[in-house]
Amino acid sequence: MHVENKVVIITGGASGIGKALVERLVKHGAKVVIADMNAQAGEELTMELNEGKEHKVAHFVQCDVTKSLQLVSLFTAAEEHFGGLDILVNNAGLWEVSGPFFGIPGSVVDADTIAAAHEENTLRRVFPWKRLIEVDLVAVLEGTRIALDVFRKQGRGGLIINTASLQGVNADPMVMTPAYVAAKFGVVGFTRNFKGLEQGLLYEGKYKGVRVNAIAPGTTDTAMLNPVRQIIKDTRLQMQTAEPVVDAFMMIIEDDSISGEIFKVTPEEGCVLVPAVDGAGLTGDARKAQGLSRED
Ligand SMILES: NC(=O)c1ccc[n+]([C@@H]2O[C@H](COP(=O)([O-])OP(=O)(O)OC[C@H]3O[C@@H](n4cnc5c(N)ncnc54)[C@H](O)[C@@H]3O)[C@@H](O)[C@H]2O)c1
Repeated sequence: MHVENKVVIITGGASGIGKALVERLVKHGAKVVIADMNAQAGEELTMELNEGKEHKVAHFVQCDVTKSLQLVSLFTAAEEHFGGLDILVNNAGLWEVSGPFFGIPGSVVDADTIAAAHEENTLRRVFPWKRLIEVDLVAVLEGTRIALDVFRKQGRGGLIINTASLQGVNADPMVMTPAYVAAKFGVVGFTRNFKGLEQGLLYEGKYKGVRVNAIAPGTTDTAMLNPVRQIIKDTRLQMQTAEPVVDAFMMIIEDDSISGEIFKVTPEEGCVLVPAVDGAGLTGDARKAQGLSRED
């Protein structure tokens, strides 16, 4: 797929990897709907991108991806401002800093605390890891569901790219982010589940021409890492800029043969395909989609 004139929704597009991708896409002639909770950063970026352009190339929607109606409004905006949708990038994310899973009051709670939280509607504060799962996993599923429906109705294919993480591939115990690992492994498995979709092998061919892939970045220098900068420095952990990650997004966009795949991007190895499942237990069509013969 050529990027020029394509319409792209990018969640979490006001900062870090999302912002760098937005800038690259606009540079190559795409039109972008930038979705983010951070209105100030999103509006500033959008203004910069549209400045001096004859036609609008960027539109900002303030959006919490965990709110279904706000998520739907992104697709309406893509239609209203740019006439449809070609690519969805599910990129908005939270990181688990100093362990929401264990590290804050409420990780081990009694029945009274839970009941009180229900009453006050503060469950998310008591269980912040649930909020993480909603942003990093549930919203990816919901965004994909809506995009697939839009692509089916448009009838001209489409592309979804999810931002997973190296933590969704390796689950390094020393990083101590169990909820984040669970969410990102979820994104990886979810993405692989659509291999062969573009060939019309799944769902009675309703989504023929639609590809779903994911990028799994390693440590990347963005605001997400601000709380652990000292640790990164002390441990001399290698960090990459967002640019090689954006290169991997562009590769997936431009190569129509990439479907249901995960590419990791790390400072040590660059962009590398993460091997697919071994095929055991897959149905015949799924084996075909994975490129596996009967003997494999
Ligand atoms: N930085 C890294 O080292 C790294 C590594 C692997 C994966 N990732 C993933 O990359 C993606 C982008 O992160 P980043 O590193 O650019 O961080 P970032 O903090 O710079 O950007 C994340 C953006 O998502 C937005 N966001 C958060 N919750 C949201 C919500 N509910 N609705 C809408 N927007 C929301 C934030 O406002 C922010 O603009 C995330 O999915 C993250 O998990 C990052």
